[in-house]
Amino acid sequence: MAKNTLSFVCQNCGAAYNRWQGKCESCGEWNTLAEEDTSGSVPVSIRSKRKGRTFALESLSGRSPDAPRLSSGMAELDRVTGGGFVRGSVLLVGGDPGIGKSTLLTQATSLLARAGHRVVYISGEEAVAQVRLRAERLGLSDAPVQLAAETSVEDIVSTLSEGAVPRLIVIDSIQTMWTDTVESAPGTVTQVRASAQALIRFAKKTGAAIILVGHVTKDGQIAGPRVVEHMVDAVMSFEGEGSQQFRILRAVKNRFGPTDEIGVFEMTGLGLREVTNPSELFLSERDLGTPGTAVFAGIEGTRPVLVELQALVAPTSLGTPRRAVVGWDPSRLSMVLAVLEAHCGVKLSGHDVYLNVAGGLRIHEPAADLAAAAALVSSLVNAQLPTDAVYFGEISLSGVVRPVAQTPARLKEAAKLGFQRAVLPESARGEPGGDAGLSLNAVNSLTTLVAEIAARGSRRGESTPPAEKNATPARFRRGEG
Ligand code: TYD
Ligand code: MG
Repeated sequence: MAKNTLSFVCQNCGAAYNRWQGKCESCGEWNTLAEEDTSGSVPVSIRSKRKGRTFALESLSGRSPDAPRLSSGMAELDRVTGGGFVRGSVLLVGGDPGIGKSTLLTQATSLLARAGHRVVYISGEEAVAQVRLRAERLGLSDAPVQLAAETSVEDIVSTLSEGAVPRLIVIDSIQTMWTDTVESAPGTVTQVRASAQALIRFAKKTGAAIILVGHVTKDGQIAGPRVVEHMVDAVMSFEGEGSQQFRILRAVKNRFGPTDEIGVFEMTGLGLREVTNPSELFLSERDLGTPGTAVFAGIEGTRPVLVELQALVAPTSLGTPRRAVVGWDPSRLSMVLAVLEAHCGVKLSGHDVYLNVAGGLRIHEPAADLAAAAALVSSLVNAQLPTDAVYFGEISLSGVVRPVAQTPARLKEAAKLGFQRAVLPESARGEPGGDAGLSLNAVNSLTTLVAEIAARGSRRGESTPPAEKNATPARFRRGEG
């Protein structure tokens, strides 16, 4: 009996419903359901009844050869993949349109091709001439990359099955691919999933490494290909502010390596340049001597990264004050503001608060709490923080400054960049590894730090106009909390 196989599939997360509804219950997005024929998502050959074959079961112990890796020749890219592309693995690279995915992959494939590997670049978005034009701009026209503008997965698989197995295949992008096995239109969840499945099968069968490019929608999720995330071996996202030249490649998932590493690049007129010392880059345009800025000594993966946090706290004219944050978790900001109000007597309910991580970096570490708090208080009391100090430490809900991992690495990086002081959790002071020559200011509660910054503010206040001088101490209810 023929079964009705039409269903409504969320184009964001892939959840299927048998009737239309406005909101996807699975991911909460509105208007993402589209009607799709899902009958062919499993090929007929697999659906037909067949007798199962038996296979050998193995033990957990025993030796397997190391995953053979192919170094890309770009150290920052290798850092994120965990040492190079693994044979037979599939990697998804997501990012906003225009962020530089095609540029990065053109550079990587060219380096590999020059090193003598068979490398194929399939563009489903741009014509061959456009890809060539980019290669020309990058000075890579001479690299023996094999190029095609194709979108049919069957044709691609047939073509690549001939001759030597390619070491690396780039599919730019997975949303443009389509396969005969399903009826839906290209770009739909069913198509994207089936195309990715076919390509993944090809990678596993032949041992070629495949990179799939995926577009990201405005809310930061890979559209359509989100459903591919669980199928692939690794997911990387390529991030950056359009107006900034810095680009960050971050591993979101990696079956063959760590997921906390970042690769830092700079977009130049001649393509992406690797940045081996990101701290220097992120601190290169510091606003020295402005209240509201604090340098955070962070860790990204195995590497310390120093970055400036900028805060602006200004009296609000709105009923509900505005809180805006770029590059940091908004709920983390709310928590720090709540702790400042509840335990340190800092009144912020009448102020708009803006926090920005300079350079387009996104910080995920709770260790940034202390630096954020310092920047906020500095802006509120209009007192500049010492320009030669770095800050790190996690703040608990009780206002205690808690220890964070890798203190010696943070201090060493700060010393290397010429910083003289560090404000850090009390418990970190005695850690082995030394102080790297910095003078350490250990604080065990946020109240201590707030009092120190406020003291700087009132000392400074002596030379400021009376109106401002009076305004400053009024914001603090000292002796309370
Ligand atoms: P592209 O790699 O096409 O982005 P994506 O594939 O992620 O959509 O890069 C697009 C931008 O990069 C484009 O706006 C121009 C800029 N660009 C440079 O600044 N320098 C260069 O050498 C190249 C090739 C691109
Ligand atoms: Mg592109």
